[in-house]
Amino acid sequence: MSSVFLAACRRERTPFTPVWIMRQAGRYLPEYRQLRERYDFATLTRRADVAAEVTLQPLRRFDLDAAILFSDIMTPLEGMGVSVEFSPGPVIAQPLRTRAQVDALRPFVAEEAVPFVLESVRLVRKELPASKALIGFAGAPFTLFCYLVTGRGSKEFEPARMLLHREPDTAEVLLGKLADAMSTYLAAQAQAGAQALMLFESWAGVLSPDDYARFAQPAAARVLGRLRNLGVPLIYFANGSASLLDRVAALPIDVAGIDWRQSLRTARAALGPRIAVQGNLDPAALFSPPDALRARIEAVLHDAGSEPGHIFNLGHGIWPETDPQAVALLVDHVHERTRR
Ligand code: CP3
Repeated sequence: MSSVFLAACRRERTPFTPVWIMRQAGRYLPEYRQLRERYDFATLTRRADVAAEVTLQPLRRFDLDAAILFSDIMTPLEGMGVSVEFSPGPVIAQPLRTRAQVDALRPFVAEEAVPFVLESVRLVRKELPASKALIGFAGAPFTLFCYLVTGRGSKEFEPARMLLHREPDTAEVLLGKLADAMSTYLAAQAQAGAQALMLFESWAGVLSPDDYARFAQPAAARVLGRLRNLGVPLIYFANGSASLLDRVAALPIDVAGIDWRQSLRTARAALGPRIAVQGNLDPAALFSPPDALRARIEAVLHDAGSEPGHIFNLGHGIWPETDPQAVALLVDHVHERTRR
């Protein structure tokens, strides 16, 4: 009854390929939308009992191998003195643009900033059987930086990238503060019962390889390096990372999340035998008719090859318009086709 997901993170041979889905708790599920009629998103994340229930919703419906804590990458930043609203993505009323604003950030103390997150981790862990792992997560420093400096979601995150070039010292101080806070946050999640820790670097793809190497990668390395001694697998997902994999390979990680724009075969070759891969079906493929969807799933499995260390997932978060039946097909098909 041990976790197949955790074994795959450690690149052990497993009885089947484990599967979970980024954003598996969310708006494509009618039971999530029903709860959302009663509570706004911030309340969902701040009530430990409700957040635990939302975390478990997809596992009640599908035979997923892991749960991921229901929260948001921006949630812990309130604890540093930043107020964040969701509409539906994060909105920062006063974006951080000056050295004085960066200097005024408070150090992050997990028990004070996010007691509800730690409680929800404990509640979920109590409900889950040993065969299903609980993943804790945080935003990677550069991705948080993108939202904090720009003030909201964006295609290019121009204000954030201007700051990197106009005031690199201020940018590095902010990235360093975020790295320290997120390593503290993730360590607290592990202590509360999270069995793997994932860092979401959603906007890595806006950077040139050199700027990724100068700003984003060292900040992520600072978070991950401090978690190495906890003994839980570390997962790093950088969206748009095809041109960055040599730098990703240098991070102290167990698993690299791979987006759908690259092949798992090429990614494995670039990452080397030490790092497992997670991914990478295009979220759009879930809109195919069943036979075509099965063919797409098999193409990903084929691309992953027969060496251990593949966790099936999408190449980015699931879309709200997705039919839950497509997810059921996906999860069952991955398990059936890989049972050995
Ligand atoms: O994966 C899960 O099931 C766990 C929950 C989770 C959420 N956000 C819930 C959420 C996780 C892991 C995240 C991470 C997150 N949040 C990322 C990294 C992953 C990625 O997709 O790249 C990012 C960039 C954010 C920032 C964010 N929060 C955005 C862009 C949005 C809008 C989302 C959208 O689809 O419109 C949010 C809000 C948010 N976070 C929602 C959910 C379920 C939707 C809120 C609602 O119900 O209105």
